[in-house]
Amino acid sequence: MNLILLGPPGAGKGTQAQELARRRGLVQLSTGEMLRAAVKAGTEVGREAKAIMETGGLVSDEIVIRIIADRLMQPDVANGFILDGFPRTLAQAVGLDTLLDRLGRKLDCVIELKVDDKVLVDRITGRFSCAKCGAGYHDIYQKPKKEGVCDSCGSTEFSRRADDNPETVRNRLMAYYRETAPLIGYYFAYRKLHGVDGMAPIGEVAAALDKVLNTVAGQ
Ligand code: AP5
Repeated sequence: MNLILLGPPGAGKGTQAQELARRRGLVQLSTGEMLRAAVKAGTEVGREAKAIMETGGLVSDEIVIRIIADRLMQPDVANGFILDGFPRTLAQAVGLDTLLDRLGRKLDCVIELKVDDKVLVDRITGRFSCAKCGAGYHDIYQKPKKEGVCDSCGSTEFSRRADDNPETVRNRLMAYYRETAPLIGYYFAYRKLHGVDGMAPIGEVAAALDKVLNTVAGQ
């Protein structure tokens, strides 16, 4: 199963992709995570991406398509993948089509997580993650079971993203409406688009996603 999770910043793409990957034996491919790793490692890509990410703009299509192309050629994605945060522009969507054709693979579905703008800033500014394994949490909506201890790996070190502040979130949201929202029409025309209510609690969103994927798998 190869799928895309679409939605604005804070819609829950990463939260759901992480769990879905675990439940279904898929690989989560988050361009945001890959770019943050490149920034941390100080690579050429990271140096180019850093300033853009800090303002909430979009990194160049050429860079992200190259990153995804390299990743899709690795053997661990053979069983299926979840694209989280890619594609984000029409050029990236067309680039992905070309890439999948070349690899003899296809997209099974695209799921749009539908969320009202008013909850996004709240979700993003309350977000933190385990510094060791990357498991995602929220100050109110997704606390670790034991305060200060990661549910997944037991680490006690957490971190917050540099771009998770109200001003950058507004820029990221603008970039979403300008560049990414048109992809909803693109994938609707593709007959691959499904919508899921991303306003529901995390467990209910996960159940709705499973329902969609079961339907797609049975087609
Ligand atoms: P990226 O890392 O992709 O960030 P984003 O798209 O802005 O998405 P987020 O990670 O902020 O949100 P999410 O939907 O994953 O929400 P989450 O599940 O964490 O990109 C960062 C930057 O990198 C971009 O701005 C850009 O510069 C660059 N970039 C990346 N990809 C690119 C590309 N393809 N092209 C160009 N540039 C690119 O949830 C948020 C919080 O809410 C969490 O704390 C979670 O616990 C909580 N939550 C989740 N679901 C629920 C729920 N149902 N109810 C209550 N709380 C919830």
